[in-house]
Amino acid sequence: MKNILCLPGDGIGIEVMAEARRVGDWFVKNRGLGMRFEEGLVGGSSYDVHATPLTDQTMQRAMDADAVLLGAVGGTKWDNLDFKVKPERGLLRLRKDMDLFANLRPAFVYPALAEASTLKLDVVSGLDILIVRELTGGVYFGEPRGISDIGNGQRRGINTQVYTTAEIHRVGRVAFDIARKRNNRLCSVEKANVMESGLLWREEITKLHKAEFADVELSHMYADNCAMQLVRNPKQFDVIVTDNLFGDLLSDAAAMLTGSLGMLPSASLGATDKNGKRRALYEPVHGSAPDIAGKGVANPLATILSFGMMLRYSFGWSDDADMLEKAVGNVLESGVRTRDIQQAGKKLVSTKEMGEAVMNELERLAAMAPRRERSGA
Ligand code: IPM
Ligand code: MG
Repeated sequence: MKNILCLPGDGIGIEVMAEARRVGDWFVKNRGLGMRFEEGLVGGSSYDVHATPLTDQTMQRAMDADAVLLGAVGGTKWDNLDFKVKPERGLLRLRKDMDLFANLRPAFVYPALAEASTLKLDVVSGLDILIVRELTGGVYFGEPRGISDIGNGQRRGINTQVYTTAEIHRVGRVAFDIARKRNNRLCSVEKANVMESGLLWREEITKLHKAEFADVELSHMYADNCAMQLVRNPKQFDVIVTDNLFGDLLSDAAAMLTGSLGMLPSASLGATDKNGKRRALYEPVHGSAPDIAGKGVANPLATILSFGMMLRYSFGWSDDADMLEKAVGNVLESGVRTRDIQQAGKKLVSTKEMGEAVMNELERLAAMAPRRERSGA
């Protein structure tokens, strides 16, 4: 039995999680998957009850779970809180304490949505790239950090960009491994022309390549050029590996190539321990979107697809993950759209209706694919 901790968080996180949960229940009931779902608070919703964006108790439950599914955190309501208790700190603590150093952010253009992209059709149609973002190091966590008084009414803000060989190697290995399972090409991205940490990144990725992954085609690119290439000719990439901050920026850009931030799932993975268990957290790339929260218009597909990544990466149930991805593709093909991906002549639906459309399509697909007996479920 797999224990899944669901942390809806704030804003649209609550609405999109509800749909992912219904899809999860569907798999339990109709595909015999052994999963148990629990809920907890994170972000502003946790702050409102416990005066902290993540309690130690919820942190422990995340550590003990087989996987965590998260909605989104943050919102204007908590903008003026002290930095240490901002909603985002809850998410960052989960990533850090679970040691989820490898963040997988696929950007895949569904044929039905190619025209929803702000870029020209031929630039994005058929796009299928994956960004591997380092998630527990770099400027997000580097010390020293803080804001200090330096006299004369002046203040100074400091953050530190820092990487070690081991940190670069472990995320590099994940990226090379994934490249091997895809089109065998990896592009490593930094600012080796300006930053020592970037130079070290480039040298260490090169060493790792020589020592363990010489069969993978490796290239290097400066981060500013990569941002430009992502909008100029994104199909040149297969897998990109980069640091925490550049990965944050580049994955938003990559997401928009697919038509909407509302479509992109992600997986954050830790190391595999001696019992073969790997800590993992799955979440949509989009944020809590306070402007549309509570209106029932958010797109739940990124969270539903994040749940699909969980089936694949945490539990190895790839036929079920395939089925879910196929259902999402078919629903889009049929012309069902939430507001963020709406196009002329398509059927505009609510968050809930999109969840229902996915489940109806799952029903249809299940009728064609008989259920298997499973081991370890
Ligand atoms: C992301 C988000 C987070 C980040 C925020 C919410 C802390 O933008 O997951 O990309 O900056 O990592
Ligand atoms: Mg981001």
